[in-house]
Amino acid sequence: MDIVRTPADACRTLATRRGTQSIALVPTMGCLHKGHMELIKTARQQADIVVVSIYVNPLQFGVNEDLDRYPRTFTADADHCEQAGVDMIFHPHTLYADGGPQVSLQVGKLADILCGAHRPGHFDGVATVVNILLNIIRPDLALFGEKDWQQLTIIRHMVHDLHMPVRIIGVPTVREPDGLAMSSRNRYLDAVERKRSVTLSQALHVMARQAASGTRNCRQLLDAGLAVLQAQGITPEYLDIRHADTLQTLNELIPGKPARALVAARIGKARLIDNMPLDLMEAHS
Ligand code: PAF
Repeated sequence: MDIVRTPADACRTLATRRGTQSIALVPTMGCLHKGHMELIKTARQQADIVVVSIYVNPLQFGVNEDLDRYPRTFTADADHCEQAGVDMIFHPHTLYADGGPQVSLQVGKLADILCGAHRPGHFDGVATVVNILLNIIRPDLALFGEKDWQQLTIIRHMVHDLHMPVRIIGVPTVREPDGLAMSSRNRYLDAVERKRSVTLSQALHVMARQAASGTRNCRQLLDAGLAVLQAQGITPEYLDIRHADTLQTLNELIPGKPARALVAARIGKARLIDNMPLDLMEAHS
């Protein structure tokens, strides 16, 4: 496995195989967990060469966010990658000129809702760094976790709108046995908070179950989810039901219109997010 630290080295390392072999990129900020390993496994199945990028992107953190304490575990990450058959880790010191890039991407309205409403500038930072990583590695496909549904949606739109020659693949969320979505930020939870954090997925499950048994009214579904959260004293940053692709608000589940329930909440020092599809059963459509 190659470990490269500069764009020029990444280019050189891939040069002899580019063109004859397909390349998959798994962009990460490190602190790899089973969710990332699933991305890597899917990449391994779909491409000849698997590249994992590890870069804690300062551009996507707000001023009072966790950039400084974001866990950095490179040695363990490299071991996991080696064992999973990764071909190359791209681990740059920085991707920006001093003081930040002179030119960056700006996401439109999709960046103002849900997480974006609470993290101004976050998705511009994500879009900018993903664009840079795609330009350096020039992969045939790039894989992202469905846990960050809004991020995945924005990246799909970016690639479509900017005609970028890469296939984006979303990989389903990996969960702990009790249902908590895997996240590097779960490390911030103490034992009591860890127990409470499962409430997020429980609320989404209740909504998904009610949808599957025929409830179409989104207000009703949201009230059911909120009740689960409130029973544990959790006031979410948001709990919402959106069209899965456009992220437009839905008032009613309609057969053939993919719907997603999304939630974010602070539990202790951690800001956690999760989402699930809401499928109406055929019998009720
Ligand atoms: O999902 C993440 O870990 C990051 O947002 C990403 C896509 C690697 C960009 O920094």
